[in-house]
Amino acid sequence: MDKIVIYGGKKLNGEVKISGAKNSALPILFATLLTDDKCKIKNVPILADIKTTVDFLNFIGKKTVRKGNIVNCDKSSKLNHIAPYDLVRKMRASVLVMGPLLARLGKVDVSLPGGCSIGARPIDIHLDAFKKMGATIELKEGYIKIFSKGRLTGTDIEFRFASVGATENVLLASVLAKGTTRIINAAKEPEIQDLADVLVKMGAKISGAGTRIITIEGVDKLHGFEHDVIPDRIEAATYMIAALMTKGEIKLTKVNPKHLELVIEKLIEAGADIKIKDDTLTVKWKKEIKPINIKTEVYPGFPTDIQAQWMALMALAKGNSIIEETVFENRFLHVCELQRLGANLKIEGRQVSIHGVKELSGAPVMVSDLRAGAALVLAGLCAKGKTEISRIYHLDRGYEALEKKFRKLGANIKRIK
Ligand code: EPZ
Repeated sequence: MDKIVIYGGKKLNGEVKISGAKNSALPILFATLLTDDKCKIKNVPILADIKTTVDFLNFIGKKTVRKGNIVNCDKSSKLNHIAPYDLVRKMRASVLVMGPLLARLGKVDVSLPGGCSIGARPIDIHLDAFKKMGATIELKEGYIKIFSKGRLTGTDIEFRFASVGATENVLLASVLAKGTTRIINAAKEPEIQDLADVLVKMGAKISGAGTRIITIEGVDKLHGFEHDVIPDRIEAATYMIAALMTKGEIKLTKVNPKHLELVIEKLIEAGADIKIKDDTLTVKWKKEIKPINIKTEVYPGFPTDIQAQWMALMALAKGNSIIEETVFENRFLHVCELQRLGANLKIEGRQVSIHGVKELSGAPVMVSDLRAGAALVLAGLCAKGKTEISRIYHLDRGYEALEKKFRKLGANIKRIK
């Protein structure tokens, strides 16, 4: 198993290009199942999850090839309606195959995704929505078998929680449904808006994407598209925090500052000097980090995917702060690993109280999930001495060329087999 070894203490300086957004590229790749036409997706990050999805699309029958940061889908003919366990268990986002296959074939069998380290991550909101649109659902031999006699029927669907995945799945299912669907309490993340932009390019009729009410008027057919994936706001935030933690100065290019408004505001409150010019954003350390409380919420609130990285930053702040996680029920697995590096943290229910320390010290640590891994890398970059990070396959799922990008910024970081 590969490991990442970091000798901390180097100030990071220089420029880093932000990759395309993983959480936008994934639903867009599944959207290619909605048409038999060719599709071309650019600015796709080179990640394990992208490879998993490309393999998945080929298994379903959409001939898909990735070359560098470009994915081309060829004309497809017959689509297979079964999504097997060995593909679904690798990546929870595989549940996004349900919407398109229901829309195209009127049936889909998806292996139950199983839990993951940050929580049970049920899909009840997705399934309730499909039932409201006329589908029947059966659980059999570990598979969710969804079936709709004829086309799905558009209707009003109110979400009990503004779920990102459920909003994407209903968008993917409703664009070819009969009549109009309104998603009420829809997720507003930029990745939702990017998916809606693609569906509109394909001929879908969608209004309100990016607001809490999205209206979709079903059409009979969708055609191919070409699209540039939006920049990854979570990767961007990770490098912005790295600049502050290492007392350096990093210029991010190909970033969309509009997707990071609250994070920028909080980093400035914590003492960062941030300059924005079009699609570049420069973060410069100027004085000791101030303790700033955050509470994760659905967009446009503070992103849960930046919670772990923020905790690493606050571990070195001058004073006490509190982080509250309201989106996932078990997203504090990085706490005990950060404590091994000397962070002074205490879990109290959905909150972690942080008492800033002057310095962290290197140690062997283990990654539990993608963003926890990012927090450990950030801490290792500042910790005195050697930090050895194992189970870094989690990182490879969501961060393109992570150690190359950090090495280019001056970090003493390498991957060992
Ligand atoms: C997406 O996951 C992202 N993944 C996650 O990023 C991100 O953390 C999450 O949105 C929240 O922003 C992708 O886009 C591929 P949700 P998703 O449905 O769609 C509960 C990363 O690091 N819920 O908004 O699964 C659920 O249990 C990953 O890139 C239900 O109860 O998120 C969770 O507590 C991690 N029932 C909360 O809602 C449902 O039917 C948020 O889930 C669906 C969700």
